[in-house]
Amino acid sequence: MLQVKTLTKRFGERTAVDKISFDVAGPCMIGIIGASGAGKSTFLRMMNRLTDATSGAITYRGADVTSLRGSARRQWQSQCAMIFQQFNLVPRMDVVSNVLHGTLNRRSTLSTMFNLYPTEDIHRAIAILDRLGIADHAPKRAEALSGGQQQRVAIARALMQDPAIILADEPIASLDPMNAQIVMDALRRIHDEDGRTVIANLHTLDTARRYCDRVIGMRQGRIVFDGTPAQLTTGVARDIYGADASFSEAATSTQIETLEQSLIREAEAFV
Ligand SMILES: Nc1ncnc2c1ncn2[C@@H]1O[C@H](COP(=O)(O)OP(=O)(O)O)[C@@H](O)[C@H]1O
Ligand SMILES: [Mg+2]
Repeated sequence: MLQVKTLTKRFGERTAVDKISFDVAGPCMIGIIGASGAGKSTFLRMMNRLTDATSGAITYRGADVTSLRGSARRQWQSQCAMIFQQFNLVPRMDVVSNVLHGTLNRRSTLSTMFNLYPTEDIHRAIAILDRLGIADHAPKRAEALSGGQQQRVAIARALMQDPAIILADEPIASLDPMNAQIVMDALRRIHDEDGRTVIANLHTLDTARRYCDRVIGMRQGRIVFDGTPAQLTTGVARDIYGADASFSEAATSTQIETLEQSLIREAEAFV
């Protein structure tokens, strides 16, 4: 389905991503882990064509994605929607309009200028927000929501594009453990129920282990591990992070495990 072949990105002398290759046979949930500077974000940005590869190729369903230009490139970008650590919402705009922004790629300049959205799109936006448990917040300004809610708005905006692939760059790095769990649960459900592929850069090992079917470890621009969570032993993790014997898993933990579902529902009811 998806093939990444000797994909490379150089910034001057520095090689951020160094000839990485891997195949994704069918829909799955992949976590990419690695120390800061390993090249995780650069890889996702090349996938989404936010930045051009220096060499190598990305192929999706047999078509080369790396060479797409103009409207074909924009079409690809809505096929692989991206969400970010800092949510990237328009803070002063209401939630539902933020979600409707996800349709920008296929709307005319004129309707965009006048903020005209088809009724069916508005209904779909609300339905997606409802699925993510935040429909009640639809009329509020995005900035009035908590971080976990804002990230779910960003996921809703991505879903509005009906993407085959969702790319998430450290989606929970700015969230507390409880909201981290809510957001990761949402991404997992989107994969399980819709069959979308999720590729998420994750800053903690335990999250990658708990939520992903496959984990890719990057170090200095290269893939140094590609396997199942079970294969991701402490020794392997130490190698990925380039840490010495003092490496501790706790240092890369979100501590999601310690939270009870009931506690989360309780907290959700309050906001
Ligand atoms: N726009 C850029 N210009 C120059 N160097 C960059 C740029 N973006 C990333 N890099 C460098 O590429 C390497 C990989 O960065 P990045 O992909 O952000 O890593 P990660 O997301 O794993 O922390 C780093 O050394 C970083 O400094
Ligand atoms: Mg990064």
